[in-house]
Amino acid sequence: MTATAQLAAPPHEEALLPVYRRAPLEIARGEGVYVYDPDGRAYLDFVSGIAVNALGYGDDGIRAVIDGALSSGVLHASNLYHTAPARALATALVERSFASKVFFCNSGAEANEGAFKFARRWALTQGGAGKHEILALRGSFHGRLFASLAATDRPSYRAPFRPLAGGVGIVERDVSALDIALNPETVAALIVEPVQGEGGVRVLDSDFLRALREMTRSRGVALIFDEVQCGLGRTGYLFAYERYGVAPDLLTLAKPLAGGLPMGAVLLNEHIASAIRPGDHATTFGGGPLVASVALHVLERVSDAAFLAGVRERGQWLGQQLRAVATRTGRVRAVRGVGYMWGIDVTMPASEVVSAALEEGLLVCTAGEHTVRLLPPLVTTREELAQGLGILERILS
Ligand SMILES: Cc1ncc(COP(=O)(O)O)c(C=O)c1O
Repeated sequence: MTATAQLAAPPHEEALLPVYRRAPLEIARGEGVYVYDPDGRAYLDFVSGIAVNALGYGDDGIRAVIDGALSSGVLHASNLYHTAPARALATALVERSFASKVFFCNSGAEANEGAFKFARRWALTQGGAGKHEILALRGSFHGRLFASLAATDRPSYRAPFRPLAGGVGIVERDVSALDIALNPETVAALIVEPVQGEGGVRVLDSDFLRALREMTRSRGVALIFDEVQCGLGRTGYLFAYERYGVAPDLLTLAKPLAGGLPMGAVLLNEHIASAIRPGDHATTFGGGPLVASVALHVLERVSDAAFLAGVRERGQWLGQQLRAVATRTGRVRAVRGVGYMWGIDVTMPASEVVSAALEEGLLVCTAGEHTVRLLPPLVTTREELAQGLGILERILS
């Protein structure tokens, strides 16, 4: 064997840490709501990079903003200095939400870890060091870092990494269980996904969320909504909490925020924010000028009233069609969802449906063993939704 041959690059997967079970598809490019493999075969994308690519692929607006941001020459400045894009984005988020302050970071798990720290910092001022517990709900997914993993109800994700972060517990999705668990002396915060994504696309009940709001408020416990997956237009509302008429004290965002670039955010109300001091938290990259410029553009697009009305209207239609597919095929036990976020419980392993769909040119993903999850880009038209539904029905039949 020649030296050159020995130095030749290994097949690319060999150098990647094998933490992912990847589908047999290489994505080479994207346009609209389709991605293409290196041979040019098209796939209709009902995954959106797991609820990230809300505006689809090759969006002209995002491209123009990136070009403009690049022309400044400053991709990164650090948080030692002021930058206009982060300021403008924070202002836009505050204007559109319950929040009075925003912290930027780089991912969903990081946003939740930040929210936990802010809630604990606030709780320290309210009840002393004993008021530090963070509670999460059965079926929750909040990320894979230490505290966010401790708040994630997936035994297989947790088991190899014990001991998990302390002072974080899981409670049943049940008002009487929460009534017992929400001890005002010991609990700093309760974190909730208004629509549980990874846990099977479970749209939490309005009365349940209202009861949680009432209980947390009266007991001085911070309520955190994790809208990493269900936020920024996916439910047909800019924030999922608007659909319920229940505002949290803190809210976390990530996935679609910067149009496919990594970015997370924590939104805080005035009460929580007033407890935070310089030095309490930090991250090198958070809110850099490139990602913040793109995020401001995405936010303006997805908060447009007509855009959101379209997601609500087509999302409702998608739900009706999925229920009709369930009836016609007899292979679907339940249909759950809202907006452009749907889960169907299938009678076979969900991974079989995902594989069969891939072969037919449709990308879908799972949310648990028997739930197939649909997260189309928010710009997907009714015709494109119908095309995906047709493929899904063929597979299920
Ligand atoms: C609701 C929710 N929270 C947090 C996360 C973690 O986000 P990230 O993968 O960006 O750390 C996810 C990711 O799927 C999520 O769906």
